Amino acid sequence: MLSATVTADPAFVVGPVRRRTFGSFVEHLGRSVYTGIHDPQHPSADADGFRGDVIELVRELGVSTVRYPGGNFVSGYRWEDGIGPVAQRPRRLDLAWHSTEPNLVGVDEFMRWCARAGVEPMMAVNLGTRGVQEALDLLEYCNVAGGTRWSDRRRENGTADPYRISMWCLGNEMDGPWQVGHKTAGEYGRLAAETARAMRMVDPDLELVVCGSSGSAMPTFGEWEHVVLSEAYEHVDHVSAHAYYWETDGDLASFLASTVDMDHFIEAVTATADAVRAAGKHTKRINISFDEWNVWYQHRAESRPPSGDDWPVAPVLLEDRYNVADAVVVGSMLISLLRHTDRVHAASLAQLVNVIAPIMTEPGGRIWRQTTFHPFALTARYAKGEVLRLAVDSPVHETARFGDVATLDAVATHDPETGEVVLLATNRSVTDDVVLDVDLRGFPGLRVVEARTLSHPDHTWSATADDESSVLPRPNTTAKVADARARAELPPVSWSMIRLGRA
Ligand code: AHR
Repeated sequence: MLSATVTADPAFVVGPVRRRTFGSFVEHLGRSVYTGIHDPQHPSADADGFRGDVIELVRELGVSTVRYPGGNFVSGYRWEDGIGPVAQRPRRLDLAWHSTEPNLVGVDEFMRWCARAGVEPMMAVNLGTRGVQEALDLLEYCNVAGGTRWSDRRRENGTADPYRISMWCLGNEMDGPWQVGHKTAGEYGRLAAETARAMRMVDPDLELVVCGSSGSAMPTFGEWEHVVLSEAYEHVDHVSAHAYYWETDGDLASFLASTVDMDHFIEAVTATADAVRAAGKHTKRINISFDEWNVWYQHRAESRPPSGDDWPVAPVLLEDRYNVADAVVVGSMLISLLRHTDRVHAASLAQLVNVIAPIMTEPGGRIWRQTTFHPFALTARYAKGEVLRLAVDSPVHETARFGDVATLDAVATHDPETGEVVLLATNRSVTDDVVLDVDLRGFPGLRVVEARTLSHPDHTWSATADDESSVLPRPNTTAKVADARARAELPPVSWSMIRLGRA
C-alpha cells in the first residue's frame, strides 16, 4: 500500500471552474448525427427526428457547449446544402469520411436540437475548400436579425430571431495533411486572420477560435502556433488544441499517465501564445479551446473510412467500446483541464454520441452509457466555484513513455457559496493501492458528503446495452474525515470523486 498527501487551501485559487470546460462535439461522421442524435424511426423522436432519449442523456452528462459540424467534415462542407425544405437538399460526397452526406440535418435543425438539449452551440466554418465569403454568409444567416439575403432566408426557413452564436471555430485541424484543403501555417494564419477580421465587422462580440495543432506529436507543433498566432493574434480569442490517447502494446502504465503529455501540451501552447503576445506588444492574452480530447483507438479497423466505390450514409465508424482504464484516463484528462483553468477557457469531449462517445445508441433501439460517461458526468455536476492549486506529495513510479510519473494525480474545486470542496483523483498505479491523506487545515468542519470510485477487478471491463451497472462508480466506504484530514483508499487503475461539505 502506497501513501500520498495532498494539501488544500482556499487561498490557492487557479481560476474559476468554467462551464465551457464540459463541452462536447457532434460531427457529421459515422453514426454521430444519423441514427445518433437524429433517428426519425425511434419511438422517442420529435418532429425534427431527434431522439428524446439521447437528449435526456446529454442533459444527464452535463454537457455545456457542442461543437458542430466538424471536425474533418467541415473542411469540405457547404452549409447552404443543409437549409430549406429537406426534400430539396442535395446529397453530397463527404471526402473526409468517404461517406454520403444526405443533408437531412443542417444548421436550423442543429440549433433546434441545441435548444432542446440546453447546450450552447460552437459553430465551425469551412476554411479548407472555402474562405472568407462563405464564413460571412453563414454568420449572416445565423446572427443577423433580418433584411439581408441570408438573414431573410433563415426567417423564410422558420426562425425569426437570430441565433446569436457566440463561439466560432475558424476551420478544423488545418495543420493536418489529411485535412481537405490542408494549408501551411503561413497560408492558414493569413486566411484565419482575414476571416476573423471580416466576421468581427459583422459582429464584434464573437469569440473566435483559431486552429492550433492536431496533437503534440505533429512535426509542426509549436512552430505552427507561433506562425498562426503571429498572423492572427489581434483578431482571435482562443487557439485550439486536440489530443487523443490510447493504450499501445499493453503498456497500461504509460496510458494511465497520458496527462503528462496533456499538461505539457497546454503549457507549451500558452508559452508560445505568450511569446507572440510579448513580441507583438499585444495586451490581451490568447487562451486555449481544447476542443477535441478523448481516448481514441485510432489503429482499429472501425477508425478507417470506407474506400473505393462505397460511399455509405452513416457507416459504423470510430465506435470505440471503452473499458474502465479508458474511463480513468478520461477522468484524468478532466483533472488536467481543470488544473489549467486559468488558460483553458473551453474544451470539447470528442465526441458525444456513437463516434468515440460516452453515449451509444442502436438504430431505432436502445441507448446506453459507456464507462467514460461517468467521470465526465460526475465532474460536470459537482466541480463548481473555483479550481484550487493543490500541494501534492505522491510516490512516483516508472513508465516506458514518460519516465517517472506521480502515482497520484489530483485537483480540487471549492465553491465559496456552499463551502463544498470536491477532490478529483486518479491512482495511476497498475498494481498498488494508494492511501490518500488530504490536509484540510484551511477548511474547518468538513465531512464526507459523497465519495465514489470508478475501478474494477478487471480494468478491461466495458459497459454494454445489456449491462451498464458493473462499471458504475461505486461508493468509496473508506473515505473519512477526522482532525481536519480526509483519508481514502484508492485502488489501482482508478478515478475517484470525494465531495466534502459542511457538517
Ligand atoms: O473526432 C474525430 C476526428 O479527429 C475529427 O474529425 C478531426 O478533427 C480529428 O482528427
